[in-house]
Amino acid sequence: MTDNYAKNIQTQDGMLEALQWHIDHGADETLVDIAVDRTVTPDIADVIAKAPPPKAVVQKAVESYPEMMGAAAAIIEAQKCAAACETLEELKIAIMDFEGLSIKKTATNMVFGDGNPKAPIMLVGEAPGADEDIQGKPFVGVGGQLLDKILASIGLDRNATDLNSAVYISNIINWRPPGNRTPSQAEQNISLAFIERHIALVQPKMIILCGGVAAKTLLKRSDSISKIRGSFHDYPVGEKLIPAMATYHPAYLLRTPSQKKAVWADMQMFQAKMKEIAA
Ligand code: URA
Repeated sequence: MTDNYAKNIQTQDGMLEALQWHIDHGADETLVDIAVDRTVTPDIADVIAKAPPPKAVVQKAVESYPEMMGAAAAIIEAQKCAAACETLEELKIAIMDFEGLSIKKTATNMVFGDGNPKAPIMLVGEAPGADEDIQGKPFVGVGGQLLDKILASIGLDRNATDLNSAVYISNIINWRPPGNRTPSQAEQNISLAFIERHIALVQPKMIILCGGVAAKTLLKRSDSISKIRGSFHDYPVGEKLIPAMATYHPAYLLRTPSQKKAVWADMQMFQAKMKEIAA
């Protein structure tokens, strides 16, 4: 595709083929007029250097699309915004107002958290899907229903008021990536400061990391989820290190039910540690 791309898009059939190729790969929504290669750190200076558009267009793009300020600047801005938040309410507003993530433009609702924020257990997933985007709550689709069953198997319930069974749920990313694609590395890096602050404000005693994106981002690991799951990791919350258990994501379990056994084993370990900590 890449070698013949320039040649192919000279014809109408070629353009249609290229469009279909993008749709097949999940790029089903347009965000900006200037193409940005999201596989590398987006940087407006780079984009402009490669294909200089007229000056007025550049000015308009920079004004209209602050996400093009580049991932590095967005990370610094997110860190500043997150650090200034003293409460969950302030953090929610800060995420709402943050202009460094282009996925905000295509999402319907911001997905912040659900459950009891005073819960000793917090669970972090990847990013909202279509159902979560509509309802503005994490894990409310089919995967969420499976997650509720998994949590119930170890006595946890997001609607519980009793702190012994309460759980609080959030995601690494607060906006639905278009077409449910995996959030890009830049989006994960930019959102990290917000979820780290979110966890610091909730102050859980234990944490469940649901899926590879949550596990790798928060534990700062590059290994696959199959390597990270199955044992406890230390996760820093303020001055303390709390036990973090990574496990497979419910969406993966829906596709690969044979791995439910592994999640069951992870949850059994997690419940034993919960009892140990409560004792
Ligand atoms: N998958 C996630 O990781 N989080 C959600 O909120 C929904 C689906």
